[in-house]
Amino acid sequence: MGVIMRLGALGLGAVTLAAAVGLRAQDAPGGGPSAVEVSAEGRQVYEQICQACHMADAMGGGGAGAKIPALAGNPRLADKDYGTIILLKGRGGMPWFSDILTPEQMAAVLTYVRGHFNDYKDPVTLADVERVNVASPPVPDCNCTQ
Ligand code: HEC
Repeated sequence: MGVIMRLGALGLGAVTLAAAVGLRAQDAPGGGPSAVEVSAEGRQVYEQICQACHMADAMGGGGAGAKIPALAGNPRLADKDYGTIILLKGRGGMPWFSDILTPEQMAAVLTYVRGHFNDYKDPVTLADVERVNVASPPVPDCNCTQ
C-alpha cells in the first residue's frame, strides 16, 4: 500500500507498478539465472521502471525542475556498489526499490546499466546486493545534483 502511494506520488502509474509486480512473479524459481537471462531481465527492468525517469538512452534529464542524472557514461557506476546502495535506500528524488525489486532484479538491472550504458563488464551479483544490504552503509556523498 505504501509502495503504491509512494510511486503514485512520484508520478509512476499503475501500469509501471503492475509491470514491477509482474516482473517479481516471473522470477525463475530456485537456482541462479544464467548470464543471458540476467541480461534480458536487467533490460526488462530498466525499460519498465528506470527508463520512465532516466530515459531510454539513459541520458537522464527531466523537465519541470526534475534533475535526473544520466546513467550512461556515468563514472560513479564504476563502483559497483554505488547503484546498489541507491536502489536499496533511495536518495533525493530517486525512490528506493528494495520493496519492489527482488535482489536478483537489482543485480540484473545494475549489471545491465553498467554493461550496456557504460563499459563496466563485471556483473553485479546477488551476493553483491546482499553484502551491501547487510553492511547497510550510509549513502555516499554525491555532487551530482548540487
Ligand atoms: C521516479 C524517477 C526515478 C526512477 C523510476 C528511477 N530513478 Fe534513478 N534517479 C532518479 C533521481 C531523481 C536521481 C538523482 C537522485 C539524487 O541524487 O538526488 C536518480 C539517481 C540514480 C542513480 C545515481 C546516479 C548518480 O550519478 O549519482 C542511479 C545509479 C540510479 N538512479 C539508477 C536507477 C535504476 C537502476 C532505476 C530502475 C530500477 C532507477 N534509477 C529508477 C530518479 C529515478
